[in-house]
Amino acid sequence: MSAVVRVNVGSGYDVEVGAGLLQRCGERIARTLGPRRAFVVTDANVGPLYLRACLDSLTDAGFTHASLALPAGEGTKNLSTFGELLEAMAHEGMGRTDIVVALGGGVIGDLAGFAAGCYMRGIPLVQIPTTLLAAVDSSVGGKAAVDLSAGKNLAGAFHQPSLVLCDTDCLTSLPDREYRCGAAEAIKVGVLGDEPLFRLFEEGGAPRERLTDVILHCVRYKAAVVERDEREQGERRLLNLGHTVGHAIERCSDFSIPHGLAVAAGLAVIARASAKRGWCAQDTARRVERTLIKNRLPATTGFPAEALARAALSDKKRSGSDITLITPKEVGTCELRRVGVDELPGVIADGLAESGEVA
Ligand code: NAD
Ligand code: GLY
Repeated sequence: MSAVVRVNVGSGYDVEVGAGLLQRCGERIARTLGPRRAFVVTDANVGPLYLRACLDSLTDAGFTHASLALPAGEGTKNLSTFGELLEAMAHEGMGRTDIVVALGGGVIGDLAGFAAGCYMRGIPLVQIPTTLLAAVDSSVGGKAAVDLSAGKNLAGAFHQPSLVLCDTDCLTSLPDREYRCGAAEAIKVGVLGDEPLFRLFEEGGAPRERLTDVILHCVRYKAAVVERDEREQGERRLLNLGHTVGHAIERCSDFSIPHGLAVAAGLAVIARASAKRGWCAQDTARRVERTLIKNRLPATTGFPAEALARAALSDKKRSGSDITLITPKEVGTCELRRVGVDELPGVIADGLAESGEVA
């Protein structure tokens, strides 16, 4: 059994969520795009687990294919790997109507998505997310990018997939830390606009059996936002809740702290700062903090406010003398708030906690 969410951006695409989809991916992709040549991009952890099933299914459905397994981790999301990938696609004779299949987490999805968006000025892309984080967030919405030494995701494009196939069976092999990274992004969605989803985590953590439900909640929320603001001119910026400080933590840690855990800490910091400044009730910040802790996520960081502010200001979200923060009003409603760059260290300092698990 699987469920489908339609994302009405451009010509529109389906996000299908359910068990056993990988084994049927060829047939499902052929139904959307017709059999052709597929270039499957994966990483060194995911490849040994799932590449064979993916390629076999593509063969059965009449596709020819090539594949590339890249080293796992954020370090792969860079310009040199990006170039390597484009060269490999050209070497395999990929044409304008052929497809890229991203089989992996957010790193592979962002990198392969960007390659699909650039190769021959854009060829079709299918996302097969294998982490919870990619399932609830990065595989949907068309953001694709690589990191530069000056910051995360600084070179990229919007390139919507033609299809997203999220096989929940693939999530069974996820290490606990990666599961928690995805839970952090799902809790973020709850705080942004889905209180029932938030309560699922607040009341004891979403058990792995409820993951289909969690993914569907997140994909529906994100699809609606992206349909209204594909290019992040306004409302889509809300999806960066927790990310100003989150990206700063990733950067300060030299990317040794993964995105999801950094976002969790960033979410707690901005919630506490908002409560302190009267932008939300104390109880809202407490609920966010407690829920993160209950789900074994970090709720603060050991990096000092000044270092975090410096790292945040080198990020691309700054414009002129202001920076836009996303601040919770209550669980289920957030707002965009412009603050002067001079104010940022103070805001972050207000959100740091003296105790709690640190990211
Ligand atoms: P990741 O892709 O590095 O995956 C995390 C780890 O899990 C890796 O070691 C990977 O090999 C392993 N893995 C993946 N699937 C597995 C499976 N099923 N079983 C066992 N191991 C598995 O990281 P991530 O957390 O998925 O993604 C983080 C990236 O996503 C960051 O670069 C972030 O910037 C990006 N991101 C993008 C968007 C977007 O909208 N494009 C949104 C959020 C995050
Ligand atoms: N994860 C942020 C976005 O897709 O806009």
